[in-house]
Amino acid sequence: MELCVALDLPSSYENLKLLEGLKNENIWVKVGLRSFIRDGRTFIEDIKSINPNFKIFLDLKLYDIPNTMKDSLEEIAKIGIDMVTIHASSGYEAMEVVANYAKTLSKAPLVMAVTALTSFNQEGFCEIYHNDLDKSVLEFAKLAYKAGINGVVCSCFESKMIKENLGKDFLTLTPAIRPFGEDSGDQKRVATLEDAKEAMSDFIVVGRPIYKAENPSAVAKRILENI
Ligand code: C5P
Repeated sequence: MELCVALDLPSSYENLKLLEGLKNENIWVKVGLRSFIRDGRTFIEDIKSINPNFKIFLDLKLYDIPNTMKDSLEEIAKIGIDMVTIHASSGYEAMEVVANYAKTLSKAPLVMAVTALTSFNQEGFCEIYHNDLDKSVLEFAKLAYKAGINGVVCSCFESKMIKENLGKDFLTLTPAIRPFGEDSGDQKRVATLEDAKEAMSDFIVVGRPIYKAENPSAVAKRILENI
């Protein structure tokens, strides 16, 4: 299991300062919408200049027509990204186009499909998708698998079911982790480190429990020791 640290702080200065404290750790760095919209490609270069071995996870959750998704992946691959997210609900054709394009790249990022956002509970999910959350997550995962996508973003509550159905090589990435039972904030379906292990998650994403801590590097170290 690998740790992705979410850089969701309000300025690039604060995010980079956080990373300075984590520069010797074996972590993935998650750049989300907030950071990428504000700080763009130079932010990716700044991260690499702190530690060129940091793996970069660009969490833009692409959702568009197949051709635009493919073109976006082309640009993403040019800036040295190691993992990227798209929405499974963008559909089979879009996922297949992206997966096939990734196969033509010499250094392709892992492509992960978002199933249901972890901020959804059953009621909120049903309002949009008119279907049961658990069932839909598995359906999205099966579709992503069939399209040739590397894995899915899901909660720890679905990760094991996905592994059981699609095999352990189909990756799962689980956000909404409160490693040692911290405050859940806006996340509805949170899980601890132990839950994530039990759920056979390949990547956990941790944001606030690290960057809001008094000593972020101590929390990150403790997580790494426990995974
Ligand atoms: O602060 P916290 O640990 O809740 O942050 C979780 C991170 O994971 C955020 O950057 C959020 O955008 C992201 N994420 C999520 N749920 C998903 C996909 C990504 O919370 N389904």
